[in-house]
Amino acid sequence: APSVGLIGWRGMVGSVLMDRMQAEGDFADIQPVFFTTSSPGAKAPEIGGLGDTGTLQDAYDLEKLAALPIILTAQGGGYTSKVHDELRARGWDGLWIDAASTLRQNDDSIITLDPVNRNVIDAGLDAGIKDFVGGNCTVSCMLMGMGGLFRNGLVEWATSMTYQAASGGGARHMREVLKQFGDLHTEVAEGLADPASAILEIDRRVLAKQRSGELDTAQFDVPLSGSLIPWIDSDLGNGQSREEKKAGDETNKILGRAGADRIPIDGLCIRIATMRSHAQAMTLKLTEDLPVEEIERILDADNEWAKVVPNTKEASAADLTPVASSGSLEVPVGRIRKLEMGPEYISAFTVGDQLLWGAAEPIRRMLKIAVG
Ligand code: HSE
Repeated sequence: APSVGLIGWRGMVGSVLMDRMQAEGDFADIQPVFFTTSSPGAKAPEIGGLGDTGTLQDAYDLEKLAALPIILTAQGGGYTSKVHDELRARGWDGLWIDAASTLRQNDDSIITLDPVNRNVIDAGLDAGIKDFVGGNCTVSCMLMGMGGLFRNGLVEWATSMTYQAASGGGARHMREVLKQFGDLHTEVAEGLADPASAILEIDRRVLAKQRSGELDTAQFDVPLSGSLIPWIDSDLGNGQSREEKKAGDETNKILGRAGADRIPIDGLCIRIATMRSHAQAMTLKLTEDLPVEEIERILDADNEWAKVVPNTKEASAADLTPVASSGSLEVPVGRIRKLEMGPEYISAFTVGDQLLWGAAEPIRRMLKIAVG
């Protein structure tokens, strides 16, 4: 079994990745070498059925890294920036599998989402590509749900208006959201307990607390709980956020489309106070007038995880929410109907676990492909 260097296995994405690898028995096919950026020499984690996993290696020891045929990192972009180029400059030509965005738009990298672009991945491997990077979480979740229309060339253009969860910011962001909800509740608990109290007074106190500067906003800078933030990631200076630019750039790169083949995809990215599933409302212009039943059939059949939810109030409320999708590999897609603009215009709504298909699963599967 090939040796695989694992970096960033302890963080939030890394922990989800380790769980998934154990659940799928992936450790049977590799010889894991666990690295750390903080505590070399400490004991490596215990993996069921593996026996002694040894001690943690120094993640900045280029010599150690360069001895490995495959490196997989969920350590984040800072680590990739520090280590990847130097390793390549030393002539290392192993496979680098990465969750961070750093290398995504390089000409010699591939964004890996194999249920959608296995052909692009295989062609890349044949061509000697060595850097395989998981996509932006929103893009990967969207393509897992909407892949059928994109892969069959049925989309002329699309907009995606997102509802992105706190987990996209990181573990501390999730804590902050819950802390804010708790503090807001504490502020009005007495009034809430009394059914006869005036709701406008409760609302006034909630708003006053949100505006008071007393809530912990260390991660998001402004209160998110009971509000939203209509901007994600940096300001590109042209009115667009970096997260919004990724939607178009990464979707097309995943699909292997460039130049005149590029599908315009743009929209606004919004942070809301949900925990770990990113949702998005889409408007699509299709290349032809297809019946809704045919659209639903194409989406549902595209991959084993896309799951069409009937466009009814009951099914949408039960199965098309962050609460329904979190912790699951299934990507529900629903609210599919023709819009008033014309027979080629449809709406859709999709939601997916941002830590599974949005982060850990594509790179876990890339490792399988690499060692398989
Ligand atoms: N940038 C995403 C977000 C997370 O902030 O939700 C990772 O792709």
